[in-house]
Amino acid sequence: ISLKPYNTFGIDAIAKHYISVKSIEELQSVLKSDSFPNKFILGGGSNMLLTKDIEDLVVHVNLKGIEVVSENDNHIFVKANAGENWHEFVLWCLNHNLGGIENLSLIPGNVGTAPIQNIGAYGVELKDVFESCEVIDIKTSEIRTFNNKECKFGYRESVFKQEVKDQYIVINVTFKLTKNNHVLRTDYGAITSQLNEMKITEPTIQDVSNAVIAIRQNKLPDPKKIGNSGSFFKNPVISTKHFETLKLNFPDIPSYPISETEVKVPAGWLIEKAGFKGKTLGNYGVHKNQALVLVNYGDANGKDILDLARLIQKTINRLFEITIETEVNII
Ligand code: EPU
Repeated sequence: ISLKPYNTFGIDAIAKHYISVKSIEELQSVLKSDSFPNKFILGGGSNMLLTKDIEDLVVHVNLKGIEVVSENDNHIFVKANAGENWHEFVLWCLNHNLGGIENLSLIPGNVGTAPIQNIGAYGVELKDVFESCEVIDIKTSEIRTFNNKECKFGYRESVFKQEVKDQYIVINVTFKLTKNNHVLRTDYGAITSQLNEMKITEPTIQDVSNAVIAIRQNKLPDPKKIGNSGSFFKNPVISTKHFETLKLNFPDIPSYPISETEVKVPAGWLIEKAGFKGKTLGNYGVHKNQALVLVNYGDANGKDILDLARLIQKTINRLFEITIETEVNII
């Protein structure tokens, strides 16, 4: 089958063998079958660029369901299965007046893949509300739990991209959310100005979500209309010394402090400065409103998009002596 509907980049790669699983038992039996020694695990398909057809068995994790596990005076613990769409889960939480993930509104993808790269936006990361997740061992089919600490979350990082890469499939995530006394995070510049524009002085979690949605809709292409995987690159961290040197040539270079000796530089700025913003090469290119996002306007080939990404990386390296890493998984 074509994987086009199952990857937000909209790349028309073929899965020679495909199965959608709706229960843990089904998943376990698929994992135990030896007809396909290698399995390709597919979640929301929102963080990958397919550059070839897939020979392995594609296992599409479609476990659905949301349930309240427990609660105390202030918090509620909610477990969502891996195949739930992330934004629909955010909306479910808002409908139940549960706070904590409103800043993460409109992020493409599924609940199960959110911990892998510790999704984050507008001052909040998944790790801030993550209690634990259950995973299944691809080799043994055994189920185990990872708590927040064991996930070793970092900026777009977790244990699942490092030490235990490709060993487990996340089957559900438990979130620790507020049911009253919500802690709003509105200090991210774009949110502050958006709320001002909306003339809201005492925002609710719903207002914060609306503000984030407005910001994202302005800057980021809707994958339903234009194929993309959000930020294609991570924002690089460089030494303060290197930054000061760059500042001599580029006085307007933005930065966020990381430590005494390091700063993070927005890759979007570097790409724009390098002249790539809005660049279109036939049916693919760099988004016109956010240079960090590569886009597929039609039937682009994954390989062509990868070539463009490599060219951007090379140019950034030449101009700024900075290496930018891809955030998206290249398949
Ligand atoms: N900028 C430019 N030109 C551009 C884009 C950005 O000059 O085309 C500069 C501007 O100075 C701007 C700054 O970059 O002020 C920051 O831009 P923005 O607020 O859009 O954030 P970002 O650093 O580009 C990161 C995340 C996004 C997340 C936003 C908001 C990464 C790789 N990306 O982008 O995450 O939504 O912050 O928190 O960290 C994603 O991961 O897919 C994603 C969209």
